[in-house]
Amino acid sequence: MQVFDIIKKRRSIRFYTDEVIEEDKLKKLVEAAIWSPSAGNIQAWNTAIVQRKEDIERIKAVSPGILGNPTALMILCADKRKAYDKGGEVGRDVLSIMDIAIAAQNICLEATELDLGSCIVRSFNQIGVRELLNLPKNIAPELLVSLGYPRSIPNPPPRRSVEDVMIRWIKPGNEQ
Ligand SMILES: Cc1cc2nc3c(=O)[nH]c(=O)nc-3n(C[C@H](O)[C@H](O)[C@H](O)COP(=O)(O)O)c2cc1C
Repeated sequence: MQVFDIIKKRRSIRFYTDEVIEEDKLKKLVEAAIWSPSAGNIQAWNTAIVQRKEDIERIKAVSPGILGNPTALMILCADKRKAYDKGGEVGRDVLSIMDIAIAAQNICLEATELDLGSCIVRSFNQIGVRELLNLPKNIAPELLVSLGYPRSIPNPPPRRSVEDVMIRWIKPGNEQ
């Protein structure tokens, strides 16, 4: 598939079959994240993967944004200390979050290629998830990606047009 086809095929999938995701596929998703761009190439993030049902349920209990029944969760975390040491306040508060958002998109696109469903989730209790995973204080869960084999694929939600999103297009030769 061409990249643009995968971009358009990706949907936020929230309902999944019981089929367990193979370990090599999960590793591939982590690699897709590793190959995402990061500000200053600082790569101040880590990920946790949770596949055990009981632990997924525990995380769901503090995550109103997980609406369905994922068979795996990737928890993308900012290493706030590393981000601050290398990038100061902007690195810690802004760039590390941007890096994680881009990594999440890489994960979702690769998941689409592997016939997996995925959904980015921000609505969760960050401290609760950190405690459940027993993560150190400098590691901040910023995004979850829920994963599984899709039970069904929803229709694409509407998108804006090129004309609608374009606020300026300064073409070569435009008169001032
Ligand atoms: C930063 C971010 C946070 C999101 N948080 C949630 C969430 O908490 N729960 C959820 O079900 N979907 C969440 N989504 C998925 C969006 O609802 C979804 O991308 C949007 O409705 C467009 O649908 P599509 O992804 O199928 O194109 C989030 C997406 C992004 C980018």
